[in-house]
Amino acid sequence: MERLDKFLTGAGAGTRSQVKQILKCGRVAVDGAIVKDGSAKVSPEAQTITLDGEPLGGKRRMVVMLNKPEGYVTSTDDPRDRTVMELLPEEYRHQDLKPVGRLDKATEGLLLFTNDGDLLHRLISPKKEVPKVYYAKHEGTAGTEDIRAFESGLTLRDGTVCLSAKLEPLGAGESLITVCEGKYHQVRRMMASRNMTVLYLERRQEAGLALGDLPRGQIRELTAEEIQNLEKVAQ
Ligand code: URA
Repeated sequence: MERLDKFLTGAGAGTRSQVKQILKCGRVAVDGAIVKDGSAKVSPEAQTITLDGEPLGGKRRMVVMLNKPEGYVTSTDDPRDRTVMELLPEEYRHQDLKPVGRLDKATEGLLLFTNDGDLLHRLISPKKEVPKVYYAKHEGTAGTEDIRAFESGLTLRDGTVCLSAKLEPLGAGESLITVCEGKYHQVRRMMASRNMTVLYLERRQEAGLALGDLPRGQIRELTAEEIQNLEKVAQ
């Protein structure tokens, strides 16, 4: 929480004396209600502060990366299971962050969160073809026929047709899979359609971002430059 007048000067609304005048004239509203008292405490992250009806500063756009451990469901609320929201430290819990897409309860690895709804929808839209790279341990060993089948667009056991994807065998029972869409249990179902049941799954990259050395269960905020790059990928 900070003083409204201090926030207004910091947001470029004017000098201290100009801000006093602006407030006196009733040109500033907090969550729709006119506030004239400069000493009123506001929370710019959580509230909408307007000058002449135009939002000032507003909520800071935030994108956060989590290295998800297994055992957490990707949901904002669940009656039975622990959710990924519980892995966000306290100071991030009131930022209106939502998970970008979904990882299964058993899947580990890179999961993004953002409070920018527009960016979120573009990142998960199959039309934007945002690449996601998964590491899988699985039954059997991927071969040339499997690589070709992934490339030409697999048909899953229930008849669902997938976009072209990349399968890179790493050795017996281990592969990297790159997909540009996010259907329910997609990688597990793609591998199952080629008789390679997935035993372990980790997302290692999304939209050009990699987990790097982020420890399991930990989060980090993306830099402004990384967010710019995300914007380009999801344009
Ligand atoms: N594909 C899956 O099958 N599961 C995930 O969690 C992510 C992609």
